[in-house]
Amino acid sequence: MALILALESSCDDLAAAVVRDGVDVLASVVQSQDAVHAPYGGVVPELASRDHVRHLHATVTRALTRAAVALDEIDAIAVTSGPGLIGSLLVGLSFAKALAYRTGKPLVSVHHIEGHLASARLGERPLALPFLGFVVSGGHTALYDVQTLASARLLGQTRDDSAGEAFDKVAKRLGLGYPGGREVDVHARRGRIGAFAFPRPMLREPGLEMSFSGLKTAVALEAAGLESRSGGRLRESDVADLCAAFQEAAIDVLVSKARRALAETGLGRLALVGGLAANSRLRERMAELAREISVETHFPPLALCTDNAAMIAAVADDMLRAGRTAGLDLEAFSRVPVGRPDAP
Ligand code: KG4
Ligand code: ZN
Repeated sequence: MALILALESSCDDLAAAVVRDGVDVLASVVQSQDAVHAPYGGVVPELASRDHVRHLHATVTRALTRAAVALDEIDAIAVTSGPGLIGSLLVGLSFAKALAYRTGKPLVSVHHIEGHLASARLGERPLALPFLGFVVSGGHTALYDVQTLASARLLGQTRDDSAGEAFDKVAKRLGLGYPGGREVDVHARRGRIGAFAFPRPMLREPGLEMSFSGLKTAVALEAAGLESRSGGRLRESDVADLCAAFQEAAIDVLVSKARRALAETGLGRLALVGGLAANSRLRERMAELAREISVETHFPPLALCTDNAAMIAAVADDMLRAGRTAGLDLEAFSRVPVGRPDAP
């Protein structure tokens, strides 16, 4: 029995959660910074860390209050120590260390990607282990063999942009709002997937590597051509068609790599996690794949797909059971692969 308070501040969202036994989410609070970064069309790291400082105390207090738990009842403090923006990470990390020092409770250091993978174990219908974990977030597009939550093995990933980045950059190019992924999803529903023949990078190549930067450029070029033919402005129907055709191309690649990874590993379960897992068309296509090849799937509830602290607590619970706690000299790291032996 462990009651864990977890903090997550690796990028632009600040989150605190109280989770019992790694599965029972008593409270999950997310302080979004969408309004802070919207004027810039992307995350401004310095503004992100400053906003974390401003809201951290209140966010943690809100999580404890919502869970109706006192700080002294908590068994351990978990925190994301990387990868992410170093300034943002340091805010959560320093606060977590101070809490651990003040309460005398153990500190658990969690890898952000392992957190995303663990979101498949939260919610109404947790996915049993082992599973194929497909992380499709703003920062990562990577496939993992997940035998246990804190020992995921990387199978393949994007060589350049993440799929989420491509969604965000396409949205920005088309003048849609921020964050862009959701906007592309919505506009694509009114567009025609066959309107443009965009490339499916690395679709036919063997292996589980991916690439999305060329696809993003192809969309930008097509948009420029359309603009010059229609007096410098894209028509609404063009935007919808570009979104639909781009989204379908990206999803074709994601679905085909998932299919290949399932075949190669023989895993019978698939978890789609990270912000892009909120995409309605991607969910639909992955569900079709799962039905076709009789694989069990899990798409976490939308609130657990994007960055949150409940997923951090889920990994921490596993680590705590294995005695994997951290010292108060714990450092933040901007990049480190999952599964590295000395990774937190
Ligand atoms: O996992 P996440 O919250 O942050 C990272 O850890 O990176 O993922 C954010 C990403 C952004 O690229 C955002 O545009 C994308 O998830 N996203 C979506 C949708 N909702 C969020 N992309 C496509 N369709 C959506 N509905
Ligand atoms: Zn994330």
